[in-house]
Amino acid sequence: MKESNIELRRMEEGDRNQLIDLIFSSTNAWYQEHFKKNVFGGDPSACEIFTEVYEDLDPGCCIIAEDMDAGRLAGSCFYHPRETHFSLGIMNASPDYFGKGIATRMLDEIISLAEHENLPIRLVSSAMNLDSFSLYTRRGFVPRMTFQDMFLSVPEVGFSVAPPEGMDQVRDAVPEDAKAIADFEMKLNGIRREKDFAYFIRNGSGVWGVSVIESPEGQITGFLCSVNSSGSKMLGPGVSSNCSDSAALIYNELNERHRGNAPVFLVPVQESELVQTLYGWGAKNCEIHLCQVRGDCPPLNGVTMPTFMPETG
Ligand SMILES: CC(C)(COP(=O)(O)OP(=O)(O)OC[C@H]1O[C@@H](n2cnc3c(N)ncnc32)[C@H](O)[C@@H]1OP(=O)(O)O)[C@@H](O)C(=O)NCCC(=O)NCCS
Repeated sequence: MKESNIELRRMEEGDRNQLIDLIFSSTNAWYQEHFKKNVFGGDPSACEIFTEVYEDLDPGCCIIAEDMDAGRLAGSCFYHPRETHFSLGIMNASPDYFGKGIATRMLDEIISLAEHENLPIRLVSSAMNLDSFSLYTRRGFVPRMTFQDMFLSVPEVGFSVAPPEGMDQVRDAVPEDAKAIADFEMKLNGIRREKDFAYFIRNGSGVWGVSVIESPEGQITGFLCSVNSSGSKMLGPGVSSNCSDSAALIYNELNERHRGNAPVFLVPVQESELVQTLYGWGAKNCEIHLCQVRGDCPPLNGVTMPTFMPETG
């Protein structure tokens, strides 16, 4: 069979619609084949949020694989350069090109960009998706933390379960908090990404929320962001010092910004106290994810909640 003539290049504005279709069809095809379910409901417009948010945050940071003979996209991958690391995702090969090395070629391109900056790469990959697990571990990524993906239906009228302790110390973030949030994450987990927090708090599209929890002295001791758009309903990223602060932050984001929804959130499997609290509220598991890092990974000391929107690792 004739080899495809695949070339890598940067995404351009004219690629946007084809790229949205690719993310939608690739992800749903893979999950249909393996788990008989779709990740994205409705039509490809559910995936517009990826190009919108990623072009806002990191213009030009999307690698496209194009089949030059067929004149169509064979793959795409976004990357997100930050002060301490690159994060990577969403990664997709077109279903017609699964298993042909497209993802590996795009990954190698991003690895060389990160190596040029001498920075590690971080991502979250599904532990139930051996194709992506293998793609990353073959290139030297190491799983560093395991998360259970949980979801919880929040009634239209709000939670009937009693609020956890510490709710009186939770408030919505204001623009001046972005630096303190970034410094707090740096102190606990050794990574920094202030512009993400500034972007969520600014909330130009009206889909973001950010809660912080403070000590009695007014120091930020935890934060949790969330997104509520048609294409993505998730909590995260978030970090806190302990399980009870995380529970208060989760309660606040769910109750204030996700009524009538069933958002997904990733909780470290070893944080049993938090996991048990969430079961008590009615949360259920839907998948398992791994934080994978290629290169230096400082210890993750906080109760860490990553997300896929935007991809945070
Ligand atoms: C995951 C996905 C991106 C992989 O893309 P792909 O182009 O088919 O991947 P590749 O052909 O480059 O193969 C990846 C590597 O994993 C290896 N691999 C695959 N399955 C493996 C297994 N079970 N054990 C060991 N290695 C395996 C392949 O051999 C290849 O390594 P090599 O190039 O060194 O030989 C693709 O399946 C996809 O788009 N899935 C839907 C969306 C998704 O799940 N994205 C990932 C979430 S971020």
